[in-house]
Amino acid sequence: HAAARVLVASNRGPVSYAVGDDGELTAARGGGGLVSGLSAIGDEADALWVCSALGDGDREAVRRGVSEPGVRMLDIDAKTHAAAYNGIANSVLWFVHHMLYQTPLEPEFGPEFRTQWAAYEQYNQAFAQALADSAAPGATVLVQDYHLALVPGMLRELRGDLRIGHFSHTPWAPVDYFRMLPDDVAEQLLRGMLGADRLGFLTGRWADAFTECCVRLLGGTSGTRVGVHGLGADADFLRERSRRADVEERLAALREQVGPGRQVIVRVDRTELSKNIVRGLRAYELLLDEHPEWHERVVHVAFAYPSRQDLAVYRDYTAEVSRVADAINARFGTAGWTPVVLHVKDDFARSLAAYRLADVALVNPIRDGMNLVAKEVPVVSDEGCALVLSREAGAYEELGEDAIGVNPYDVTGTAAALHEALLLPAAERAERTKRLAVAATALPPARWFLDQLAALEA
Ligand code: G6P
Repeated sequence: HAAARVLVASNRGPVSYAVGDDGELTAARGGGGLVSGLSAIGDEADALWVCSALGDGDREAVRRGVSEPGVRMLDIDAKTHAAAYNGIANSVLWFVHHMLYQTPLEPEFGPEFRTQWAAYEQYNQAFAQALADSAAPGATVLVQDYHLALVPGMLRELRGDLRIGHFSHTPWAPVDYFRMLPDDVAEQLLRGMLGADRLGFLTGRWADAFTECCVRLLGGTSGTRVGVHGLGADADFLRERSRRADVEERLAALREQVGPGRQVIVRVDRTELSKNIVRGLRAYELLLDEHPEWHERVVHVAFAYPSRQDLAVYRDYTAEVSRVADAINARFGTAGWTPVVLHVKDDFARSLAAYRLADVALVNPIRDGMNLVAKEVPVVSDEGCALVLSREAGAYEELGEDAIGVNPYDVTGTAAALHEALLLPAAERAERTKRLAVAATALPPARWFLDQLAALEA
């Protein structure tokens, strides 16, 4: 790979490996916004995707020299990776940008943080070195997300000839929140990113927040360009994939589980603190409380897939989601009606089936870079679906007009929005869904990727 002309770098790569009982390695393609957007790199000649080995299967693949064409996995020391990924990226940077701290007690930036920060620097340095070793003269490098915020600056030091971009798939914190970080760390993060020629964000709101941080903490963006690329849903892929036999099978199974003549409220998320699943369930509970007319006439199908289970807060949150769902079923359920159907095992085909079936989709994150579920549902919906959408999701900027907007903290308001969504006439739902699908697919992943390349090379 010594001469790649287009390089992508991200913590999570497009593939992951598992070791079977027979000792054989099996590869699985990953999902998520970042991975689906970047898949267009597969069409570029001389392209290379540099990512981390994340589990034992990945590490074993690196040791055995197994890899997918165009992908290079870095086997960074497991302790260093854990401190950088779990400690800094997911417990600090994710929390800052999604404003998730319970500030009377956290964050506490003491000695443990400093040790983890040193690991984060090392891990970023390992990426910068791998990219420097693999890039052809004058190559273009697209660095992804908060895991690798220091890479642009580090890579610039190693290779002055490269065009370097960085893209953030998350929100960016407002300056008063961002500067909770120790001053030196805040400055290092901003300067690291400003090592890029161009920075990309999902919406103007996040781009402006970043610029404001630079102006207030550093006095400016020192010439680095900032652009907005609102990743859209992949209509062709979704429409084809959602009509395959495995999805049809799951659709039939879900219909059976829901029961005839009932409306379906669907949510699909990683079990992620920022996704606000517990308040969503509470809003549904309040709806049943205040509107007995919906009893036996609606089912909430909630998919909450495991995420970041190395972190205790995520494990606790996962348990809380199950507990609240069970409590609702215990309180309102009858012999023939289960008000909440919760599934926690990740199954993409079943998610697509739920998208097709949904009468209402609930997407109520506290804060979200974009949120692709909000964009995917209207594209595959069979008969139209009302979208209840948090105004704190990046997607709201593009979909707000035809969605029912909610303040994600306002459980009463969210319950009222669900009620309104359930009452939306079928024809109105179908009309809105059509417009939502158009807005949701305005910038398909392949164009999202190529636009950034073009902007960087211009
Ligand atoms: C968000 C981030 C991605 C990340 C994904 C899944 O979408 O922006 O960078 O890959 O979450 O999180 P995980 O920690 O499982 O990679």
